[in-house]
Amino acid sequence: MPSQFFGLWMTQKILLIGNSDGIGAAVTRALFAQGEHVVGLSKSPSPLGPDGPPHVVQDIAAPEYPQVLQHFLAEEGPFDACIFCAAIGSKLQLPDLSQEAHVIEVNFTAMVRTLAALTPGWLQRGNGHFIGLSSLADDFYNADAPSYTASKAGFSYYLVSMGLKLRSHGVYVTNIRFGFVDTKLPKSSWKPLMMTADQAARHVVRCLKTHPVQLSVPKLAGAAIHAFRIMQSLRVWFS
Ligand SMILES: NC(=O)c1ccc[n+]([C@@H]2O[C@H](COP(=O)([O-])OP(=O)(O)OC[C@H]3O[C@@H](n4cnc5c(N)ncnc54)[C@H](OP(=O)(O)O)[C@@H]3O)[C@@H](O)[C@H]2O)c1
Repeated sequence: MPSQFFGLWMTQKILLIGNSDGIGAAVTRALFAQGEHVVGLSKSPSPLGPDGPPHVVQDIAAPEYPQVLQHFLAEEGPFDACIFCAAIGSKLQLPDLSQEAHVIEVNFTAMVRTLAALTPGWLQRGNGHFIGLSSLADDFYNADAPSYTASKAGFSYYLVSMGLKLRSHGVYVTNIRFGFVDTKLPKSSWKPLMMTADQAARHVVRCLKTHPVQLSVPKLAGAAIHAFRIMQSLRVWFS
């Protein structure tokens, strides 16, 4: 949202990664409607079309992504904030493990590459904000989706660690852990306490103002998953 500076409303320049669908698209619509300067980057074209914000079509798991991003930042930057929403889910169907590494590349490695490209400029300026969308799935073992679970566990640990490292330099990092959100991503047939993409987007937009290191929503689902994880750990311990 536009930030206040000596009584004047300043628009922010925000890079959204993975915003052609789902929560990223909802965040784009919300920020664009508020008058923010939004630029998107996704595997697919923007659903908002030519009347929407500028949008670059790029696969973030492609080998050329780091170079494309550096070039893009030099051309379009500097950005005040980046919201990383891209992810894929893959249900493990044995004996096919062919997508496992790809899930880690899209969900985790591309996020690390994106933060690495933005952070030096933000450190020089003494400000910046990276928001990453993780999941409450980072807190339990999931035999049906090991790569998704592992990518989100790595994602959350990395972002919270980076948040603690960068905060004293004026650079904020926020890890958002959502429960179920009504998009094409969740494959489970049981989706308790599910939010709409617009509800999830409101939490993301609020974080641009409040800069928490981590936000877990809904908190009740987070507590239930953590209790389940403790039982799982006991099972693993005695297995
Ligand atoms: N939905 C949930 O229940 C839920 C729960 C917890 C956390 N989350 C997290 O919230 C974030 C957003 O999820 P969502 O539900 O909005 O998912 P989604 O509707 O599937 O949207 C994911 C976005 O990422 C893009 N993307 C995927 N692979 C890409 C690639 N290789 N290169 C560039 N862009 C790529 C997609 O592009 P395409 O349009 O081409 O697919 C799409 O724009 C994810 O990090 C997810 O883990 C979601």
